Amino acid sequence: MKEKIDHLLSEIKAKIISNKQELEAFRIQYLGSKGTIKELFNDLKSVPNENKREVGQLLNNFRIQTEDLFNSWKEKLEESSENKSTIDTSRPGNSEGIGSRHPLSLVRSEIIEIFARIGYTVSEGPEIEDDWHNFSALNFPPEHPARDMQDTFFIEKGEKEMALRTHTSSVQVRVMENSTPPIRTISPGRVYRNEAISARAHCFFHQVEGLYIDKNVSFADLKQTLLYFAQELFGEKAQIRLRPSYFPFTEPSAEVDVSCTICNSKGCNVCKYTGWLEILGCGMVDPSVLEASGIDSKTYTGFAFGMGVERITQLKYKVNDLRLYSENDVRFLKQFTSGI
Ligand code: DAH
Repeated sequence: MKEKIDHLLSEIKAKIISNKQELEAFRIQYLGSKGTIKELFNDLKSVPNENKREVGQLLNNFRIQTEDLFNSWKEKLEESSENKSTIDTSRPGNSEGIGSRHPLSLVRSEIIEIFARIGYTVSEGPEIEDDWHNFSALNFPPEHPARDMQDTFFIEKGEKEMALRTHTSSVQVRVMENSTPPIRTISPGRVYRNEAISARAHCFFHQVEGLYIDKNVSFADLKQTLLYFAQELFGEKAQIRLRPSYFPFTEPSAEVDVSCTICNSKGCNVCKYTGWLEILGCGMVDPSVLEASGIDSKTYTGFAFGMGVERITQLKYKVNDLRLYSENDVRFLKQFTSGI
């Protein structure tokens, strides 16, 4: 009888009950009025007296375990049927809106791609910069009035006075210091200037710097590279023109306009009826800048250019308030779902 009970115990423990019918069959088989347990209690009568107490206890135990198992299966089934009744799987789901890329990121990626196609790598530098990389190595001597072209945020870092970089030209210096020509690289990044925030100015914005250094690099190479860039970005009809300008780190220097893509050069309020839009500054790297970064200016020449990402985004997407880029208004951001 003891063995029989053991055997039955492992039998009921191994059972898996998945619906109400199976549960009822289980109850009838083991706990019912003609069930196994009832039968076993009847058989107890034929157990010799001296064993009755022990077998009786075993049997009682078995009955309790069977009832417990029955109750726990019952609970489980009830729970799952409750769940079934509260979840309406036919209801339409709530879709999570997919985010979109920030317009500045879109344009930044596009600029990187355009230059990658003609062999430019991407290099980056720190936003907290020292005087050497942001100014001195770029031919802005101390006290030189050209430093006032860019209102600078100065910060203390230990003993050293540092600045938030005012332009990504600082990365040019770092690249030249750390590599040997030929160099062909662009440096995208955030820059800072101490300016009052308005629709037309912001205390931080983004630039992409370009640098090409090799033997025999000429101004014609610069012009052709920029024409290629303008046509890739604004369409093959885009034209460029170069106006003489001044930057301490390039000689000669120029500012570059692209034909107005908004009015097809007919004249509109964006191009102020000139048919041209200014997009970047450029020039041949001044030999003293090459030398300051350890590059032999007798062997190598190069050109550099720098552009504002906000400015280009404004022209591509007709966004005319700089503040929109950093306010994170979803109504504005949601419009830029296409692109790369
Ligand atoms: N760093 C200049 C600025 O922030 C832009 C610039 C002009 C960069 C001429 C250049 C360059 O590399 O050649 O206004």
